[in-house]
Amino acid sequence: MGVPLMDLRGQWEPLHDRISSAVDEVIRSGVFILGPNVKAFEVETAADLGVAHAVGVANGTDALILALRAYDIGAGDEVICPAYTFFSTPESIGAVGATPVFADIDAGTFQLDPAAVEAAVTERTRAIMAVHLFGHPAPMAELRAIADRHDLILIEDAAQSYGASLNGVRCGAIGDIATFSFFPTKNLGGFGDGGLVTTNNTEIAERIRELRFHGSKDKRTFTQIGMNSRLDELQAAILRVLLPELAGWNDLRQAAAARYAELGLDRFVELPGTAPGADPIYHLYVARCQDRGAVQAALKAAEVGNVVYYDTPHHLQPVFADLGYAVGSLPETERASRECLALPMYPTLPPADQATLVGALEAALVPIA
Ligand SMILES: Cc1ncc(COP(=O)(O)O)c(C=O)c1O
Repeated sequence: MGVPLMDLRGQWEPLHDRISSAVDEVIRSGVFILGPNVKAFEVETAADLGVAHAVGVANGTDALILALRAYDIGAGDEVICPAYTFFSTPESIGAVGATPVFADIDAGTFQLDPAAVEAAVTERTRAIMAVHLFGHPAPMAELRAIADRHDLILIEDAAQSYGASLNGVRCGAIGDIATFSFFPTKNLGGFGDGGLVTTNNTEIAERIRELRFHGSKDKRTFTQIGMNSRLDELQAAILRVLLPELAGWNDLRQAAAARYAELGLDRFVELPGTAPGADPIYHLYVARCQDRGAVQAALKAAEVGNVVYYDTPHHLQPVFADLGYAVGSLPETERASRECLALPMYPTLPPADQATLVGALEAALVPIA
């Protein structure tokens, strides 16, 4: 592949020795589960995000399940979420026995449309699960107002948005509870699976700590049916080396996004929008194409990586067929699924690769505007 969609080796290579030493120290310590690195990482992420509590868990999907369980959300309850997101979002709702209720998105930012969320509230709604999709914050002020009006829990799925902020407040510190993933390709990605739950609610944080450890505080008394879902010590040690580098990496992603605009990419595709007050971190750089097939053909000919996120929205997935959504029921979600295309984005993306991409489109396509 001439121009890869993502290549994170450039961000890790300068840190290789420090990562190896951190791993080595854990091996020498012989402590692999809930040791000093997990504790320190929880303190460091809580301080970094500006939140009272952070709890390390096994992955971002468990983090969502644990967040729902901490609020006793389950059978008979409804949770409003987008259908244009990674599957874990509605999967977690189904996993606790609750029902996902899908709301449409805003065309410009791909985030939940507050008016659609409000229209989806019923007497069974317990929570809104907002997703900060592609590294851009969801409209949290509007969602907070809806949650307050209807007495709902506001959950942030911040898996794709560590480091993004809205009006100066970090994603993960805005709602009642938030979740992160450290899957290797995330902006803060470990060398395996990992996740985090954040909240300012001390009681809920304690509940998450118990739930991640078989529903027990002390391994002797079991107060509830829990899970085995801990961030492991090796991942925490690695993530502690990476965390201080993240702000710089996110700045490089923002610079790469600005460079696409400077190169005139908007002559061929619609660039991702930014909401007022939002400071996105471009986990993915997702453009909208009038003719996606033609854009993909031009990129393929020039060996430029690209991928479609998410081609079948979740309200139309077989697993949710019983919920009765028809084609056309979430028009902006379905349009995004038809038109969107992720283009190369990572901190060390060479400017020459971005120029190659724009040149490939210039050679093959007629400008749209
Ligand atoms: C929006 C979103 N939510 C949840 C998850 C789940 O995270 P994990 O893969 O760590 O379980 C992911 C990523 O994989 C995601 O992109």
